[in-house]
Amino acid sequence: MKIGFTETVLRDANQSLIATRLPFAKFADILPTMDKAGYYSVECWGGAVFDCCLRYLNEDPWERLRKLRMAMPNTKLQMLLRGQNLLGYKHYPDEVVRMFVDKSVDNGIDIIRIFDALNDLRNIEVAANEAIKKGATVSGTLSYTQSPVHTLDAFAKLAKELENMGVQSICVKDMAGTMSPYEAQELIGAIKKEVKVPVVLHTHCTTGLAYMTYLKAAEAGCDVIDTATSCFSGGTSQPATETLNFAFKQLGYETGLNDTVLKEVNDFFKPIRDEFIASGGLNPKMMATDTDALNYKVPGGMLSNLVAQLKAQNAMDKFEEVLLETPKVRADMGYPPLVTPMSQMVGVQATNNVLAGERYKNVSKEVKSYCLGEYGKTPAPINPEVLQKVLGDEKPIEGRYADTLEPIFDKTKAELEGIAKSDEDVLSYIAFPAVTEKFFAARKAEEEKIVKYTISPMD
Ligand code: CO
Repeated sequence: MKIGFTETVLRDANQSLIATRLPFAKFADILPTMDKAGYYSVECWGGAVFDCCLRYLNEDPWERLRKLRMAMPNTKLQMLLRGQNLLGYKHYPDEVVRMFVDKSVDNGIDIIRIFDALNDLRNIEVAANEAIKKGATVSGTLSYTQSPVHTLDAFAKLAKELENMGVQSICVKDMAGTMSPYEAQELIGAIKKEVKVPVVLHTHCTTGLAYMTYLKAAEAGCDVIDTATSCFSGGTSQPATETLNFAFKQLGYETGLNDTVLKEVNDFFKPIRDEFIASGGLNPKMMATDTDALNYKVPGGMLSNLVAQLKAQNAMDKFEEVLLETPKVRADMGYPPLVTPMSQMVGVQATNNVLAGERYKNVSKEVKSYCLGEYGKTPAPINPEVLQKVLGDEKPIEGRYADTLEPIFDKTKAELEGIAKSDEDVLSYIAFPAVTEKFFAARKAEEEKIVKYTISPMD
C-alpha cells in the first residue's frame, strides 16, 4: 500500500493561515532540504501566491517560480489554476489561458491542478489540453460540495469525463473542509471504481474532520493527500504532514517520506510561524477547530462574511433569517459549490432578499452575470421564476462564455512596450493590471537606484 503526500506550506497553508504573506527570502534556505523529503509534490504556486507576490511582497511571481525550480530540482512543483479564470475570477480568452499554461511549464511547473468553481468542464478543457501538450502533469480537479444534485454518480461521471480528457490524476478539492470520513469513503470509492488514474484528496482542518477523512479516503484507495508541515497545519490549513506520515507508516503504508528531513523542515518553519503570531500576521484562532460550518451548512469563511455584512447594516437581528434564506438562494441558483465567488454571491443575495423584504428585488451585477451563464453551466438548472425575475427580457448565452472573448495578448503587449520585459510580464499585467502596474513602477525605481549606485564611484 502506498500513499503520496503533497506539502502545502508554500501555498495553501501559507494562504489559509497568513494570507500568503510569506516572502521568498524567508523560506529560500530550507528548499534544498525540502527537496530531499520525498514528497509526491510541493504545492508552491498559483492560487493567491501570484497576486500576493505582486501586491504585497514586491516579488515577481515568475522569478519566484524559477528560483523554486532551481532550489528543488528533484521535486515535482505543483500549482493551482482556476481553469478559464486562471488565478482570478474573470474569464480570459483561450489564447491567454494557453499562453499562461505554457509559461508556467516553461518556468518550472510540473503538475497543474486545474479546477472550475462550478465543475463546468468546458472551463477546464483548454488549460488541460495545453498543459498535456506541454508535457505537464494535469490533475483534473472537482470542487467538492454537498447538495441534492452532487451525488456520487454525478461526481464519478465528472471524474470519468476528466479522465477521458487525458488528465493524469483526479483531485477532489474540499475547500471548506466539510467532507466527513463517511463521505470520503463513499466518494473516493465511487471515483476509484470509475477511473484508472490516481486520485488525490484535498481538504482543510477547519471543522476537525480532516485526519479521519484522509484515513477513510486512503482505505477507499485514495493515492495522494495534501498536508502541511505541522507548525503550519490545523485550523483553516491542512492536517500535519508528520502526524499522517507517522500514522500511515504504522498502518503499513509506504509514504516515501524521510522522517528526519520532515523534522528539519518543521524546525525551520517554527520560528517563522512564531514571528507571524507575534506580529499579528497569524491569528492563533485560525489554527483552531471551528464546527460552525457543520451546523450551519455554510463554509466558515462565508459565515464570517455574513456576520460582517449584517453588522455593517446594523441588522444582526436578521442573522437566523439570513441563514435560513442562504440554502434557498443556493437551490434557486442551481446548487453552486459555495466557493469564491459563488459563496459571496449567494451570501450577499440571501442578505439582500431578507433586508429588502422581497426576494430578488435587489440583485448584484455578479448574480446577473451568473444567471446569463457567464460563469459556466450550473450544476442544476436555475429556478425559472428567479431567472425570469433577474433577467427580464435578456436571454442567457448559449455555449461557452470564453468563446465570446476577443484575443487580447498582442494588443496588451504592444501597449506595454518599453514597460514589460517579457511575455511573462504581459501575462502578469493581464491577470492583475493595477497591481502589476505598481509593481512595474517599483521595479523601475529599484533598477534606477542600482544604476546610480554603480556609477557613483566614478563621480
Ligand atoms: Co484549499
